[in-house]
Amino acid sequence: MDFSDLSQQRYSARAYKPDPIEDEKLQRVLEAARLAPTAANRQPFQLIVIHAAGRQDELKRLYHREWFLQAPLIIGICTLPAAAWVRRDGKNYADVDATIAMDHLILAATDLGLGTCWVAAFDPAAAREVLQLPDGVEPVAFTPLGYPKDQLRPKERKPLAELVRYEHW
Ligand SMILES: Cc1cc2nc3c(=O)[nH]c(=O)nc-3n(C[C@H](O)[C@H](O)[C@H](O)COP(=O)(O)O)c2cc1C
Repeated sequence: MDFSDLSQQRYSARAYKPDPIEDEKLQRVLEAARLAPTAANRQPFQLIVIHAAGRQDELKRLYHREWFLQAPLIIGICTLPAAAWVRRDGKNYADVDATIAMDHLILAATDLGLGTCWVAAFDPAAAREVLQLPDGVEPVAFTPLGYPKDQLRPKERKPLAELVRYEHW
């Protein structure tokens, strides 16, 4: 898929088939995240690959939606803020770095015919407990990773005129 098709085709899948994901495809999406740029190349993130099978009761504590638990895998991304680049005014870029890495993963998944959905509305305390995250590791987002059972919907987006301001040269 070329990039414009890829950005059109990616959507938030909220229904998944239980079919397993080929290990080669999993490795390719993880590799796409690994190649993402990060501020000062600090790479202050960790990905967690979670097998959902048999863990539904625990995992629904993170995010209680049926579709969240339908895919065979859930991928979580965490930051390590202490390892991230910090701008002179104190702004820590860990969340930005993790977001770029997750978006690489999500676009690579789309390219391979896999569905994803960003999930930020999870319970962070439950995530810490269920995934046994140590101090200093902050969960940022999750996505199911699986073959989608639903379909691309028309995108609702603001017009470019509302999103872009052209500076006068
Ligand atoms: C940072 C972020 C967090 C999101 N969190 C959630 C979420 O917790 N639950 C959910 O159902 N969708 C979530 N979404 C998906 C958005 O609702 C979705 O991307 C948006 O409505 C556009 O639809 P599309 O992804 O199908 O193009 C999130 C998206 C982003 C980028």
